[in-house]
Amino acid sequence: MDQLTIKPGPLRGEIAVPSDKSITHRSLLFGAIAHGVSRVRQPLQSGDTLATMDVVRKLGVEVQSSYTGEWLIDGKGLFGLREPEEILDCVNSGTTVRLLMGLLAGQEFFSVLAGSPQLRKRPMGRVTKPLQKMGAQIFGRDDGRLLPLAIIGSPLKGIEYELPIASAQVKTAILLAGLYAQGLTVIKEPGPARDHTERMLISMGAPIQRKGPYISSEQPQQPLQPLDITIPGDFSSAAFPLAAAAITPDSNIHIRNVGVNPTRRGLLDALIAMGANVNLENWQESGGEPVGDLHIRYSELTGITVEGDQIVTMIDELPVFAVIATQAGGETIVKDAKELRVKETDRIATTVTELRKMGADIEELPDGFVVHGPTRLKGATVWSHGDHRLAMALTIAGLIAEGSTIVKDAACSADSFPGFVETMRQIGANIT
Ligand code: S3P
Repeated sequence: MDQLTIKPGPLRGEIAVPSDKSITHRSLLFGAIAHGVSRVRQPLQSGDTLATMDVVRKLGVEVQSSYTGEWLIDGKGLFGLREPEEILDCVNSGTTVRLLMGLLAGQEFFSVLAGSPQLRKRPMGRVTKPLQKMGAQIFGRDDGRLLPLAIIGSPLKGIEYELPIASAQVKTAILLAGLYAQGLTVIKEPGPARDHTERMLISMGAPIQRKGPYISSEQPQQPLQPLDITIPGDFSSAAFPLAAAAITPDSNIHIRNVGVNPTRRGLLDALIAMGANVNLENWQESGGEPVGDLHIRYSELTGITVEGDQIVTMIDELPVFAVIATQAGGETIVKDAKELRVKETDRIATTVTELRKMGADIEELPDGFVVHGPTRLKGATVWSHGDHRLAMALTIAGLIAEGSTIVKDAACSADSFPGFVETMRQIGANIT
């Protein structure tokens, strides 16, 4: 459904959300270089992760999908990938292209990475630059900063590199290249970017070490062990029903089996600081990741400031956080979030523009936004700009707006959250 009509109303009941996108991408790419067959239960089958699956297959790796939805990835070992005969199309997925750059830089073959018009605008220099320091040969538009990119696989050497931005994609690309490099690669990260890569590669026996902000990788002496994992629900998808229940009077919902890795759950901490009535239940460890159920009931919220290290732990949730802020009393400030400008869209500009159409009191900052609330939002016709997280954030805004809200170009929600509308309907959302 490319155009959604939303009417307000409370949310009640129990749901599960689709599996984690970041972990699914990694299971395909890391499984491809493992020695033997990786078994991945409950993978996310979304636009972005299917782009990664397609690329992995073009690199000569068989991925079988069983009728239960489980994947078996026939890993070829670190040096067993095959030169792709075709361009590797990463479609809309920034994670696919950036992680692949790290994986392909040290191979003994040539490859070309391409993507959609949206992806072709996104900055790749942040990955090209450190990889070139390692000896990679990467060529592309704007001196290797924009797709399409051509990679001539070459011998790499380890580097010491301080990441200028807290980015899990950049971190992962360098750590992967480090597995192919002579000597040690050490990176220093400026903030706690999601650490699924470290957790997964360590579980596969890769020589990855972590000490505070320093992470190192080097060539493994042993083949990488295949993965055997069950992927938890994606906190970034749970964020939408979570936000909706937090701000819609009379709501009370339970979301089962959500990944609550500390590097991912900044929105939960922010909601608690605002006074939300939210509990984390059935906390357990699954596949090297903390997992739990989220139970949330509506309550009145108070504005807060989110800044510094917390930003990276809720970077993908900031559009829906802006919606939450419109219902909180007083001022909510988001700063240190310049990264939002280079996501699928400039999420500072697109979030502010679209929420203003609904009457939100929100102002743009160079590195974030300021919201004054609470405001009774008004139904309006708004546009996702082709950005999945904006489409879903605006749908949540529609659930508390007076009258009807129309979200245009909403089908992109399937890039990360297939079945978004059906899941929201299960808890009573009036979306047609
Ligand atoms: C991701 C990292 C983040 C995030 C993206 C997924 C990942 O991007 O916004 O949705 O899986 O590594 P950056 O690394 O660019 O911050």
